[in-house]
Amino acid sequence: MAEASVMGTSLLQVTGLSKSFAGIKAVDDVSFSVEAGSVTALIGPNGSGKSTTIDCISGFTKADAGRVILAGKDITGASAHTVAASGLVRTFQNVRVYERFSLRDNLRIAAGGSAATNPLTFARVREKAPSSEILDEHIERVGLQRYREAPAAILSYGQRKLLALAATLILNPAIIILDEPLAGVNPSVIRDLSRLLDALKSERRTFVIIEHNIPFVMRHADHVVVLEAGRKLMEGPPVTVRADERVMRAYLGGSGSDVATEKVP
Ligand SMILES: Nc1ncnc2c1ncn2[C@@H]1O[C@H](COP(=O)(O)OP(=O)(O)O)[C@@H](O)[C@H]1O
Ligand SMILES: [Mg+2]
Repeated sequence: MAEASVMGTSLLQVTGLSKSFAGIKAVDDVSFSVEAGSVTALIGPNGSGKSTTIDCISGFTKADAGRVILAGKDITGASAHTVAASGLVRTFQNVRVYERFSLRDNLRIAAGGSAATNPLTFARVREKAPSSEILDEHIERVGLQRYREAPAAILSYGQRKLLALAATLILNPAIIILDEPLAGVNPSVIRDLSRLLDALKSERRTFVIIEHNIPFVMRHADHVVVLEAGRKLMEGPPVTVRADERVMRAYLGGSGSDVATEKVP
């Protein structure tokens, strides 16, 4: 293994990950590492294997091959529950909530101490739910305090993504993976998320973010991993990735419309 980052003490080390569906290689020998306190962006056209990669890492899909090491612990093939308990919590591209339950109750279920399924992150890592104060603090953190007692049905698509982020934060995991947090989200929520991410980065939280919004990636990522047709096309700092012709070609070859280019504050 030639890459220094893979040999070091990265918080997350993914090596040779592969996953096929009916003979189609959705993820093909993908390796990358995530440093503690960094934001790693996973980008690539639709269908390039981003979600499947994190499904394999987070225990929602079993990889055919490869190794996943989290904080020195081998979590390859571990269940989603075990992975979450080991400190890796993720959100989903299509966030689901209990529409009739209040935000506070949705978050209470997500935070543990409930036998109910937690559709926000599917993680259940605690024995006891936190106090209402702690729940409210996290709802406030993502800017949804006005709605905390309202049924989650009233939340917009973007606000549901904010609630899912709160559901990861309340578990205080070592690493948070967000699957397309900005897709379908209006500009004001994008601004909120961008500011919140700044604050979380200054707390040295560690993120892996799948995102098509290239300005957002350039603004926030320390390291970018580019997938194309299941394979790693390249990786590096945002400036290097942005300057690489192969990356734009990969997007245009897929569907150029994937790339959002509006400015991020
Ligand atoms: N559960 C599944 N069954 C069959 N094919 C799948 C499944 N999940 C993903 N795929 C296929 O794997 C490839 C990668 O998908 P995905 O990981 O969702 O890409 P991305 O998140 O980059 O858009 C696509 O061709 C997709 O159709
Ligand atoms: Mg996806």
